Amino acid sequence: MSGEHRVLLVISGGIAAYKSLELVRRLRERGVAVRAIMTRGAQAFVTPLAVGALTGGRVFTDLFDREDEQDVGHIRLAREADLVIVAPATADIMAKMAGGHADDLATAVLLATRSPVLVAPAMNPAMWAHPATQRNVAMLAEDGVHFIGPVPGEMAETGEAGLGRMAEPLDIVVAALHRLDAPSLPGGGRRLAGRRAVVTSGPTVEAVDPVRYLANRSSGKQGHAIAAALAAEGAAVTLVSGPVGIPDPPGVAVVHVESAREMLAAVEAALPADIAVMAAAVADWRPAKPARGKIKKDGSGKVEPLQLIENPDILATIGRHRTLRPALLVGFAAETSDLIRNARAKLKAKGADWILANDVSEGSGVMGGDDNTVSLISAAGVDAWPTMTKVEVAARLADRIAEALTEVVE
Ligand SMILES: Cc1cc2nc3c(=O)[nH]c(=O)nc-3n(C[C@H](O)[C@H](O)[C@H](O)COP(=O)(O)O)c2cc1C
Repeated sequence: MSGEHRVLLVISGGIAAYKSLELVRRLRERGVAVRAIMTRGAQAFVTPLAVGALTGGRVFTDLFDREDEQDVGHIRLAREADLVIVAPATADIMAKMAGGHADDLATAVLLATRSPVLVAPAMNPAMWAHPATQRNVAMLAEDGVHFIGPVPGEMAETGEAGLGRMAEPLDIVVAALHRLDAPSLPGGGRRLAGRRAVVTSGPTVEAVDPVRYLANRSSGKQGHAIAAALAAEGAAVTLVSGPVGIPDPPGVAVVHVESAREMLAAVEAALPADIAVMAAAVADWRPAKPARGKIKKDGSGKVEPLQLIENPDILATIGRHRTLRPALLVGFAAETSDLIRNARAKLKAKGADWILANDVSEGSGVMGGDDNTVSLISAAGVDAWPTMTKVEVAARLADRIAEALTEVVE
């Protein structure tokens, strides 16, 4: 295994275990050596034979197997991995990890390892939302465990949908490669340790009356992924989020807001910071005079025109701050035409250091989708990135930020 990255994959007993077969394939395609441990539960869903055929080696299942223990042993399994991935991670295995249990091979190895651990939870939405699971996730995040997903969508059980699906194998691979490359980078993979970051995400909603509002189609997927990627690099991250249907990223302090003015106040309260990434789709305008009571239809056919006034510009306000401007200020430009020209103008007008420009025209699939095509625009020029997942965009941005801040210090 010399020279290549070594992943130890723990497969626990969820229905998403069949997806771990693809995960093994995708990791091996990228030259990563994979060893697998399966819990008893996992073996009810996929066979060690199938997993072993894909890893190209034996699959470890039993803590008390004399042959396994003499041959490799649980301590060696724990030690000989650059990264441990738990995918799928059941509610049960996360509870055991949080409690420090070690009553089978998987949990004993997870307790014995000193390598980074990446967990991809997969379960029924009610199990994920249960306070016990959420408590365990928060505890594990505090212990330094990294998470990817779960994501919203259809469950394998028919008729069930919600938050609890395992992240797609390719997204797990991206997160894994990010972690595997990190230790060889300056700062031991936590290049932003000791740095503070504030990230905005999602839409803002602007009240028309107590029950109606103006909003936009932002899902928050990109901003949330950026907050998670910066936290994975060791930054202390405050995420200021408008209303979204996705969970708070673990290991990040989240402030929930609704309007642009609330978002600005929360961002200012989070300063000083070294890094600010303004990824939220902030409403440009708001109703001038939101009605105190619900506006009624009077049957006359006449509709009062809605008067709009401009919202504060959060990026420009932060860019102009004389004392509190972060060392690196990154904005997003969502455009439907003249992408690069408009983004360059925005860079100047807002006093930002970088603008990530993305095409959100109809048919681009960016708003709400999982992929993004962006160009990074700075004083140095335009760097066009290929289309990739939002998780991948976040990892690349965190990498560029870490590089830029390291250069500033040196
Ligand atoms: C058909 C079936 C599907 C299951 N799917 C999941 C699941 O997706 N996620 C989960 O957390 N538990 C799921 N469970 C429950 C776990 O298999 C059970 O908690 C088991 O004890 C987990 O053991 P392990 O964590 O040691 O692998 C499922 C159970 C059955 C019977």
